[in-house]
Amino acid sequence: MAHSYSSSAILTTTIKFCLLFSLLLGMVSAQLSPTFYATSCPNALSTIKSAVNSAVSSEKRMGASLLRLHFHDCFVNGCDASVLLDDNSTFTGEKTAGPNNNSLRGFDVVDTIKSQLENICPGVVSCADILAVAARDSVVALGGTNWTVQLGRRDSTTASLTAANSNIPAPTLNLSGLLSAFSNKGFTAKELVALSGSHTIGQARCTVFRTRIYNETNIDSSFATSLKSNCPSTGGDNNLAPLDLTSPTSFDNAYFKNLISNKGLLHSDQQLFNGGSTDSQVNAYSSNSASFLTDFANAMVKMGNLSPLTGTSGQIRKNCRKTN
Ligand code: HEM
Ligand SMILES: *[C@@H]1O[C@H](CO)[C@@H](O)[C@H](O)[C@H]1NC(C)=O
Ligand SMILES: *[C@@H]1O[C@H](CO)[C@@H](O)[C@H](O)[C@H]1NC(C)=O
Ligand SMILES: *[C@@H]1O[C@H](CO)[C@@H](O)[C@H](O)[C@H]1NC(C)=O
Ligand SMILES: *[C@@H]1O[C@H](CO)[C@@H](O)[C@H](O)[C@H]1NC(C)=O
Ligand SMILES: *[C@@H]1O[C@H](CO)[C@@H](O)[C@H](O)[C@H]1NC(C)=O
Repeated sequence: MAHSYSSSAILTTTIKFCLLFSLLLGMVSAQLSPTFYATSCPNALSTIKSAVNSAVSSEKRMGASLLRLHFHDCFVNGCDASVLLDDNSTFTGEKTAGPNNNSLRGFDVVDTIKSQLENICPGVVSCADILAVAARDSVVALGGTNWTVQLGRRDSTTASLTAANSNIPAPTLNLSGLLSAFSNKGFTAKELVALSGSHTIGQARCTVFRTRIYNETNIDSSFATSLKSNCPSTGGDNNLAPLDLTSPTSFDNAYFKNLISNKGLLHSDQQLFNGGSTDSQVNAYSSNSASFLTDFANAMVKMGNLSPLTGTSGQIRKNCRKTN
């Protein structure tokens, strides 16, 4: 009898293996993976890339706007597409938060991508993953670096206006404020500098740089003067200026060179090179574009890992603007 097994012993062993297997599966599904859609939606990534390339070729700035959406999503309770939820009579999302109101753009591009994905693989690809992939494809489309996007994020059923107002750094912050806003999300000073290099593309409104060009002294005077014509001391709040005056549609390291010339557009930009602890890193990235691009890519992957919803939490929204 020593080598025979009762059917109940086999059953018990089978159940133990099943439990162990599902436990392992549960652990695995809590992690993001680059191949998450390989069988469930093999054309997901190429669909997003084509749509981003088409949007960026119509309007280069859209690449910047899509990159910023992922940042404003991830810094507010994680990368869960909370930033995409519309307000309605019974729900207040994040779109009217100070850093977002009249500022975020690209929602229509995300809607187009989502409807294409719902056509080919209904209910499979999350809005949070669309933002992560669109951010990468945008940087690549503007000549920047490539990285492997981790996938498998799910979408929130909630949003937080107060977290959006408190967690997204303001352009009025000084260096210590910037360092703590990023440290609160687990980022080092070096990563703050690398991620700020995003301001090598895109535009900002007069209202966010007016005080800098009229009242600050750590600014190149001809740079300040040239900006005043389109940003009067009163009025013209929504008039735009490029964050990187030299190459606003190229994802390069010119942003850091500008800072060294006191040509940062935002108060917060120039704080990274103003006699403080991050000056040396700005110098390093200004003279070594490859190290900037590598550190930027790694920091973007890290940002994309901020508190994702996985497994059975959250949902896959059918429409990125509202919960199912
Ligand atoms: C370091 C702290 C940061 C501050 C204080 C900040 C602030 C701002 C402000 C005020 C604007 C202009 C908004 C407007 O005029 O409506 C802007 C634009 C932009 N930000 Fe940041 N930002 C920061 C970091 C980042 C990061 C980490 C990213 C991406 C990873 C990013 C990506 C962008 C992009 C691409 C734009 C241009 C968007 C467009 O043209 O539509 N920013 N940022
Ligand atoms: C958002 O901007 C609109 C103008 O487009 C303004 O009427 C509204 O008061 C702003 N909301 C908040 C919360 O600041
Ligand atoms: C970027 O990297 C991804 C994944 O590593 C790869 O599939 C894609 O082909 C690369 N894109 C470009 C333009 O190099
Ligand atoms: C930075 O800003 C904070 C808050 O406004 C302020 O308390 C602090 O003194 C400032 N730090 C420096 C070095 O200016
Ligand atoms: C510049 O500073 C002065 C004095 O503090 C203030 O009255 C004025 O409103 C500021 N101007 C801008 C554009 O911030
Ligand atoms: C309002 O938005 C919330 C969040 O997307 C959604 O759950 C709810 O169904 C919406 N209500 C209406 C009336 O559309």
